[in-house]
Amino acid sequence: MSSDTFQGWVAHDATSPLQFTKFTPKPFTPSDIEIRITHCGICGTDVHTLRSGWSATDYPCVLGHEIIGVVVRIGSGVATLASSPASREIRVGHRVGIGAQSMSCLRADCEACVAGKENYCSRITGTYNGRYQDKSKSYGGYATFWRGSAHFAFKIPDSLPSAEAAPLLCGGVTVFRPLKRYNAGPGKAVGIIGVGGLGHLGILFAKALGCSSVIAISRTSSKRRDAVEGLGADGFIATDEDKEWARIHSRSLNLIICTVDAPDLPLGKYLHLLKVGGTYVQVGAPEGPLPGVNAWSLIQKEVQITGSNIGSPDDIREMLQLAADRRVLPWIQKRPMSEVNAALADMDSGKARYRYVLVNDANFNEAKL
Ligand SMILES: NC(=O)c1ccc[n+]([C@@H]2O[C@H](COP(=O)([O-])OP(=O)(O)OC[C@H]3O[C@@H](n4cnc5c(N)ncnc54)[C@H](OP(=O)(O)O)[C@@H]3O)[C@@H](O)[C@H]2O)c1
Ligand SMILES: [Zn+2]
Ligand SMILES: [Zn+2]
Repeated sequence: MSSDTFQGWVAHDATSPLQFTKFTPKPFTPSDIEIRITHCGICGTDVHTLRSGWSATDYPCVLGHEIIGVVVRIGSGVATLASSPASREIRVGHRVGIGAQSMSCLRADCEACVAGKENYCSRITGTYNGRYQDKSKSYGGYATFWRGSAHFAFKIPDSLPSAEAAPLLCGGVTVFRPLKRYNAGPGKAVGIIGVGGLGHLGILFAKALGCSSVIAISRTSSKRRDAVEGLGADGFIATDEDKEWARIHSRSLNLIICTVDAPDLPLGKYLHLLKVGGTYVQVGAPEGPLPGVNAWSLIQKEVQITGSNIGSPDDIREMLQLAADRRVLPWIQKRPMSEVNAALADMDSGKARYRYVLVNDANFNEAKL
């Protein structure tokens, strides 16, 4: 049953608990679908946005952009959607996922959209805290239903369980995309900084891509066992404990993916770890500027510092298929969606091992029977 009023966990300001209440989704258009949400991961971005950490959030806001649900309604234009042949296959009853992006301009004169890089469109609409072209607001997955463009909805391969699939939609593709873009694979040594939601997926995907060496870089040794014995990392560096870590491991990595979002991250020391011609990709997004870098750390080794924003629809489909084929399954902890406020507080204090997935209460109780 669909209606023009949805219910969800709504943030009204930066500090009050989310409240389960009504909100009005975007108007339904022929290229839209509607899903009954079963699962939604909690991403670090949800926490930044809730507290207006990067800039003022457009409250009321419904967070959540690692969404899995079952299609309940399909617009009349989806079966012939010009912009996305893959989305034409979506049918009522299918399991689909939605990530951090719900719309881009999809115009013929947009270089990013024409190139299949919708995630770099200047008119990007985030899945929450965004606005569509008609000025209506985008609302995310801490809710019972989601409505939006079929272009940004993805069929979930049958072999991926819904709860494990959820974190792939944002966290998974955000690390998969730069690994692929910078040729992570056999013969490459890759460092993943921060063993959190994105970071643990970075280790799993780097291993799945066949990298010769995957090094987990964390602040303390508390996650060493998980990273090495559980996730398959070939080495582990504890930056707050291993003295001289930057010197000892200097020039050892071809590629670094940094998921850390602390403004005081030791960027200069991370760059020490790169080999000549290596690449450092920042995906974690601090609420302040990155620290300064000594010019010599770039000049002496011809290294590049770059960033990466989620992934395109094609990247998401490729990542989901790889995850299904190679059994890349995030480590998750399921929480009933009604416990969202406690789960957000735990996420903010770094307790997740390694991703909380909110399960809509009906599904949560069903799973326990
Ligand atoms: N670029 C994109 O497209 C994109 C997409 C999704 C998310 N993000 C951003 O990526 C960042 C990470 O998201 P996430 O969901 O992976 O978060 P998370 O689960 O909290 O992981 C962040 C990790 O950073 C490390 N860390 C180092 N210094 C820290 C400090 N002072 N405080 C807290 N953590 C610290 C921790 O790892 P150790 O304990 O191992 O040190 C922590 O597990 C966020 O800023 C998020 O907004 C970016
Ligand atoms: Zn995210
Ligand atoms: Zn565009």
